[in-house]
Amino acid sequence: MESVQAIKQRFGIIGNDIKLNRAIEKAIQVAPTDISVLVTGESGVGKESIPKIIHALSHRKHGKFIAVNCGAIPEGTIDSELFGHEKGAFTGATQTRSGYFEEADGGTIFLDEVGELPLTTQVRLLRVLENGEFLKVGSSKVQKTNVRIVAATNINMFEAIKKEKFREDLYYRLSTVEIHLPPLRDRKEDIHLLFRKFAADFAQKYKMPTIRLEDDAVRMLNAYRWPGNIRQLRNVAEQISVLEQQRGIKTSTLSGYLPNAGNNLPAVISHEKKDTDFSSEREILYKVLFDMKSDLNDLKKLTMELMKEGNKEKVQRDNETLIKKIYGDEDVVDYTEDEPSDLAILELDQPREDVSAPAPITQEDKYHFAEEIQEEETLSLQDKELELIKKALDRNKGKRKAAANELGISERTLYRKIKQYDL
Ligand SMILES: Nc1ncnc2c1ncn2[C@@H]1O[C@H](COP(=O)(O)OP(=O)(O)O)[C@@H](O)[C@H]1O
Ligand SMILES: [Mg+2]
Repeated sequence: MESVQAIKQRFGIIGNDIKLNRAIEKAIQVAPTDISVLVTGESGVGKESIPKIIHALSHRKHGKFIAVNCGAIPEGTIDSELFGHEKGAFTGATQTRSGYFEEADGGTIFLDEVGELPLTTQVRLLRVLENGEFLKVGSSKVQKTNVRIVAATNINMFEAIKKEKFREDLYYRLSTVEIHLPPLRDRKEDIHLLFRKFAADFAQKYKMPTIRLEDDAVRMLNAYRWPGNIRQLRNVAEQISVLEQQRGIKTSTLSGYLPNAGNNLPAVISHEKKDTDFSSEREILYKVLFDMKSDLNDLKKLTMELMKEGNKEKVQRDNETLIKKIYGDEDVVDYTEDEPSDLAILELDQPREDVSAPAPITQEDKYHFAEEIQEEETLSLQDKELELIKKALDRNKGKRKAAANELGISERTLYRKIKQYDL
């Protein structure tokens, strides 16, 4: 059996905390079995490496590993993404399509943010877990699949069960073994270690000398709450590496990168957060931004190609079609107008104390999202925005002010959107 140390090296996991070691050890132990595993822990603690370890050390290692971010897939398409659909199952289903559970036959599926699954999908999932059976959307033919499921969540599942948002029977099925990853603030010894590792990585990446914390700054780093855990620590290391001229970092500099550094008391906010967890919204947002970026790239590519052909009229026509596809048929929203895009505001104005630092889209995220984006069914930007707004309104029982607050947009903008979407 591979040692915990070897696994850490192989998967680039830094840290010597005993709880971290215990979690990795558990992953190694359950890997050769087909037992369902639930990985728990706050956002940014490193949950994503656990399913990778489990898959790589299992007899399924030559099979597929598919990671699905349940929180980032719109409710309307998730069943079809997971289980596939029959031709004609719904408008736009022009072809029969297989879902992840069919594709991952013989492999492993990682269901990230499993707590976000809609109840109807939970029923389908329970059936797969119980006897490996599932139906494509719009089909009555029972299919079989042999898939190992590893799930992860950063929400309190007991609360979700109490609120009838998550099925208790499914929870017990999923969590035959639970692997918990501790928050960074409970791994004091690892904080500076991780920081030094990230600082060295970014120095190399940006071809600059490595930043170094002065002793007081190290103390400040250790005392900080790290609500966004390792993801936040990594971002802070990156920001400082890129932005600071001086390579020796003092507390006065560091404190500028630590939101609420003075307030290290266990914040009340972190308890309230469970109801209005921003992380899934953030994931959706990243997906939206990523979709938008790939649409733009398409646009660029198309323009280049057509320019080469020297057919200017066609360029214009095709661009118009694409713009309509992206922004819908009506008046094209000009985000450069009087106020910046709502999406941009959402990203910038989020209360920083209760979410991890606004993470830039990393290569990993892109990889992640690329897996999830379905060519045929990519919903329009507007649909996604609409869904975000609806969710926020629901959660705030229709109270516009609170919903706007949560979305980080002005009430006026929200009002305009409500009218625009006829909510
Ligand atoms: N022990 C670790 N050593 C090095 N990097 C880590 C460690 N844990 C997490 N990371 C990094 O932190 C970021 C967040 O980890 P991730 O697994 O996505 O968190 P989660 O899924 O729990 O929100 C990733 O960039 C990951 O590579
Ligand atoms: Mg994650």
